[in-house]
Amino acid sequence: MCSASSNAKRGSSPTVREGVRSDVFAPSLTVGLLPRGQTPQFYVTTEPRPELTLNSCAGYYPILALKSRALGFLNILSFMGFATTAIHAGQEPDSAAGAVSIPIYQTSTYAQDGLGRHKGFEYARTSNPTRLALERNLAALEGAKFGYAFASGMAAIDATLRLVKAGDHVIVSDNTYGGTNRLFKRVLANYGIEFEFVDTSDVTNVESAIKDNTRMVFVETPTNPVMIVTDLKAVSDVAHAAGARVVCDNTFMSPYLQRPLEFGVDIVVHSTTKFLNGHSDGIGGAVVLNNEDDANWIAFIQNSAGAILSPFDSWLVMRGTKTLALRMEQHDKSGRAVAAFLEDHPKVQKIYYPGSKSHKQHDLAKRQQKGFGSMVSFDVGTLAAARTVLESVKLCTLAESLGGVETLVCHPATMTHASVAPEVRERLGITDGLVRISVGIEDTDDIIADVDQALSKIGK
Ligand SMILES: Cc1ncc(COP(=O)(O)O)c(C=O)c1O
Repeated sequence: MCSASSNAKRGSSPTVREGVRSDVFAPSLTVGLLPRGQTPQFYVTTEPRPELTLNSCAGYYPILALKSRALGFLNILSFMGFATTAIHAGQEPDSAAGAVSIPIYQTSTYAQDGLGRHKGFEYARTSNPTRLALERNLAALEGAKFGYAFASGMAAIDATLRLVKAGDHVIVSDNTYGGTNRLFKRVLANYGIEFEFVDTSDVTNVESAIKDNTRMVFVETPTNPVMIVTDLKAVSDVAHAAGARVVCDNTFMSPYLQRPLEFGVDIVVHSTTKFLNGHSDGIGGAVVLNNEDDANWIAFIQNSAGAILSPFDSWLVMRGTKTLALRMEQHDKSGRAVAAFLEDHPKVQKIYYPGSKSHKQHDLAKRQQKGFGSMVSFDVGTLAAARTVLESVKLCTLAESLGGVETLVCHPATMTHASVAPEVRERLGITDGLVRISVGIEDTDDIIADVDQALSKIGK
């Protein structure tokens, strides 16, 4: 049974035998092994292990360590679903006061008991209890062993790219977030990393782009903003055959709607700024993964380069993930309704939504995702028409970003994707008439009524 996050022991080399993490369980009495599909049982350990926490691994149930004062040194672990994981993973009551909400450890350093004797925390760039709780939580949600929180989604992506070096070749989805495109082409390419942008929705493009020095395939699915879906299993198979890692930006779906590691992806990155935080009040990013060597390197980069998520922002994201399941259900429900409304609207020339039957990868999206989410793009033909819609909405807010409780609309060509070359934008369908909507969790009818009245102003 894969088990507790080993973030507290980043330097160690746990061995896995028959699914039991020996570093965590060796001195303890353990009962039962629970791959998915088998009957849940209990795990009992005989000593308190602060690193034991709710976590999960691909193919296994999440487990929860319940520490009970009455039971003394007994940890009882049981198997839970996504919403429970979101609320409890990494969230044991604080040992000092029993605070149910993990305290914001607003500190830069930690008092040590003696030379080389401390409570597992030495300096807050390296590790912070609030950030650690979030990292465990995010790893559990994605079904990963390791998680690392960064100051932004771009910092998380930048740290992930430190797994390749000068002379390596990286294949990238040609329709990623504009900032990813900018980081790769205008920053990292200057350091000898070769980036090749292909349409990863067709796995044969990935196959033909593979070279001897291909070390990473970086995909975003569905893509921002034209919702192209990449087959994660097919791409992982092709990349792994060539010895390359697969990284997936899962920001648009969140782990509630898509868990890329279950399809063979090696590393998941997030802008936690979006659905994970969910309240549009903090910038952040995360990297989650299973490979221990890669995890150690990401941790090393996190500490060395220092683009860490602050304790307060970590707390905000944790507050967000507790309601992720509920929010994503509503986002998904309203996203489908808004897309259906737009699809039939006479002023809309084209819509981009994987939940729409007209989307050419609808079946793949259905297979790979638990829902279709709330990101919908639609083309109203011209810049003037797009401007009318964006400036006429009343309930929706014209703003960059996405994934918050409030509905946001934006103009990708001049906002989120302004840094993408115009000819590339044109080829991808990021036209001047394209509008992107991040459907929030207000009442669905109110959102549709607002978009409807804004569309009605076109041409007036
Ligand atoms: C899909 C995707 N990935 C990464 C990012 C970058 O995240 P951040 O703004 O938190 O740096 C964004 C930002 O919009 C995004 O949409």
